[in-house]
Amino acid sequence: MAPVQINEVKGNQRDNRTATHSHIKGLGLRSDGTAESNAAGFIGQAAAREAAGLVVDLVRTKKLAGRAVLLAGGPGTGKTALALAVSQELGNKVPFCPIVGSEIYSAEVKKTEALMENFRRAIGLRVRETKEVFEGEVTELTPEEAENPLGAYGRTISHLLITLKSAKGTKKLRLDPAIFEAIQKERVRVGDVIYIESNTGAVKRVGRSDAYATEFDLEAEEYVPVPKGEVHKKKEIVQDVTLHDLDSANSKPQGGQDVMSMMGQLMKPRKTEVTEKLRAEIDKVVSRYIDQGVAELVPGVLFIDEVHMLDLEAFSFLTRALESPLAPLVILASNRGMTPIHVHTSSALPGGEGTHPTPHGIPPDLLARLLIIPTHSYNPAEIASIVRTRAKTEGISIADAALDKVAGIGTKVSLRYALQLLAPAAVLARVKIGAPAGATKGQVSVEDVEECEDLFLDASRSAKGLGDGFLV
Ligand SMILES: Nc1ncnc2c1ncn2[C@@H]1O[C@H](COP(=O)(O)OP(=O)(O)OP(=O)(O)O)[C@@H](O)[C@H]1O
Ligand SMILES: [Mg+2]
Repeated sequence: MAPVQINEVKGNQRDNRTATHSHIKGLGLRSDGTAESNAAGFIGQAAAREAAGLVVDLVRTKKLAGRAVLLAGGPGTGKTALALAVSQELGNKVPFCPIVGSEIYSAEVKKTEALMENFRRAIGLRVRETKEVFEGEVTELTPEEAENPLGAYGRTISHLLITLKSAKGTKKLRLDPAIFEAIQKERVRVGDVIYIESNTGAVKRVGRSDAYATEFDLEAEEYVPVPKGEVHKKKEIVQDVTLHDLDSANSKPQGGQDVMSMMGQLMKPRKTEVTEKLRAEIDKVVSRYIDQGVAELVPGVLFIDEVHMLDLEAFSFLTRALESPLAPLVILASNRGMTPIHVHTSSALPGGEGTHPTPHGIPPDLLARLLIIPTHSYNPAEIASIVRTRAKTEGISIADAALDKVAGIGTKVSLRYALQLLAPAAVLARVKIGAPAGATKGQVSVEDVEECEDLFLDASRSAKGLGDGFLV
């Protein structure tokens, strides 16, 4: 029977939603758990950060089973940033799966199914395996051609000659043409450090050899040292996948070479969708490998923003899923106060269920299981500091007066609006390079900020003067 595949499923990382939080590197807590006023990119919001630190401790000591966390506070008070920081504190490679409450509704997929999928995206599995590999820096890569055996005019590749260099020696390998494809897929070229698994032929590019690091390279390249030891050796290979990766890799028929042959012999090929049964089978295999010490579970964070968009059915699924032994840390966020529980149109029940308001639009039985962390709005000094951090992260050079101006907008209008002005102001400044007298090249000035403020309305200015119906 075909083994379970742990191919790395690409296109599954949805980190773009957190790009506005790239300055956040963690909770910025001291070893005694108190918050520094400005650390790890986090500014102010001390009590919430300390509470989040306690949550991290509870998760580490496994004392949070069956419960979840709710971040409650106004818009732009750092709820999403806090959730991200919690996942960073839990460790490198801990899955962080951010979703928005409303995204579980779609015509094709049942909402409980969509929630389930995201639960499994938030649970990681670290698989350690010792494999026989050839590893080294590629110093030669020559395909050997031959006449096409079918007699056509084209030529085919008969072999691939590859020379790998490690700290202790070099080895010349003559490889099957099938591996050539894998090499092309990984875009391997001379100077890259790669390894080839000797029994499956799977090729993995580790990075660019640091001997080439002095070349002018603007691309985000990862430089790695030439591997130690011999070229042919045993190597511990660590792969991080999520349960969702396993589900989807096993639900589609797939070829491919980086099959991790150790993963179970249970799966039949040619599954087309993730069924409850497939998940159960995967869980069985996974727990067996955990028992054998080959794999380790890495529960991550499932972050559900705008949780008031979930309806009763979704909430009861959530409550139940929290009880499962494989649950990730669930962090909910809401900027609503008393709100009726959302009724999604396709599930609207007669009689107007869910119409009386509950706190944050969450049913009481789930509320009772939540640790609620409030977030508060920022004072002007904190806003200024957040704006400065953001400008630095985005690589925007900005005059002090302009920074004060943006911070002022942050206080007067909203932090989010102020932060959104930074990027277009930087574009304006760049466009105007050299034009205004005395301006430092490309530096954002007060005028740039003012111009942007005129170009882009904030919500309340946009709403002002709007009549009913169509805009004219
Ligand atoms: N204390 C903080 N330190 C540094 N940056 C912060 C802080 N709080 C918020 N930010 C940044 O401000 C922006 C808005 O914050 P965030 O998106 O976390 O707010 P939110 O509470 O999730 O808002 P909403 O309710 O609208 O979803 C983000 O870019 C975030 O990284
Ligand atoms: Mg948010």
